[in-house]
Amino acid sequence: MKIIRRPDEMRALCRDFRTAGRTVGLVPTMGALHEGHLSLVQMSRNICDATVMSIFVNPIQFGPAEDYQKYPRPFDSDCEKAEAAGCDAVFAPEQGDMYPPDYASYVEVERITGTLCGASRPGHFRGVATVVLKFFNIVSPQVAIFGQKDAQQVVVIKRMAADLNVPVKIAVAPIVREKSGLAMSSRNIYLTAEERTQSSLIYKGLLAVSKLFDKGERVAQNLKAAIGEVLGAAPLVSPEYIEIVNTLTLQPLDTIHGAALIAIAMRMKTSKTRLIDNIVLGGEL
Ligand code: PAF
Repeated sequence: MKIIRRPDEMRALCRDFRTAGRTVGLVPTMGALHEGHLSLVQMSRNICDATVMSIFVNPIQFGPAEDYQKYPRPFDSDCEKAEAAGCDAVFAPEQGDMYPPDYASYVEVERITGTLCGASRPGHFRGVATVVLKFFNIVSPQVAIFGQKDAQQVVVIKRMAADLNVPVKIAVAPIVREKSGLAMSSRNIYLTAEERTQSSLIYKGLLAVSKLFDKGERVAQNLKAAIGEVLGAAPLVSPEYIEIVNTLTLQPLDTIHGAALIAIAMRMKTSKTRLIDNIVLGGEL
């Protein structure tokens, strides 16, 4: 597996892949790899001939009070995991090559970035859309694979790629969960033992909604109440939002007719860790 730092070298390698008739799949990550990331690599390998993983902790998607400095960066073990999972190359650019001092261009996706996580993380999706478009331009992948856990990110990237005519297919991989049901996340390492136990109720809440939906319940208020009831037993888990929204517009729904995204964000009271999770009912992202 090649480890590449410079964007021009990455572009040249991907050009070689394509010249050799190999389709290229891109798995964008910020490192601190877990089973969830590795499932994205597996999906890429199922669809494409060559897989490039980017590992870059993107400073412009972190707010001033967020964990950019302390975000885990176990680069060597990440490369070992990426290689064992079958990546052909890791692209790990230097911050100065991605954002030189005279850098001035950003991607703003309107409307769908101000809701859900965007409401409490202003500028986050501008940072995500910008770096992902840069990766698309450097790697020119036929397919880019994202995890459903970051559901709003998936919707934003799909919108951006369609609006800006980027010739890439966005594939969405299912959420990978720990045994307890907790969605895998690089930030789970921040959780205290007690928070870890209580945070498993987040998925139990989502399952309760799914059960009600299967029985015919379509009123958003009633479905949301079911999650609230389950989380009542988790005093260390403080809800930031519990929303039921349209899967394309991310606008809240009063009643579910087609597909709906049930999205939740929680703040842990002790470690202040922010966790997100979701399920999609009646369709897919
Ligand atoms: O999901 C992530 O890890 C990041 O938001 C991404 C897509 C790699 C952009 O920095």
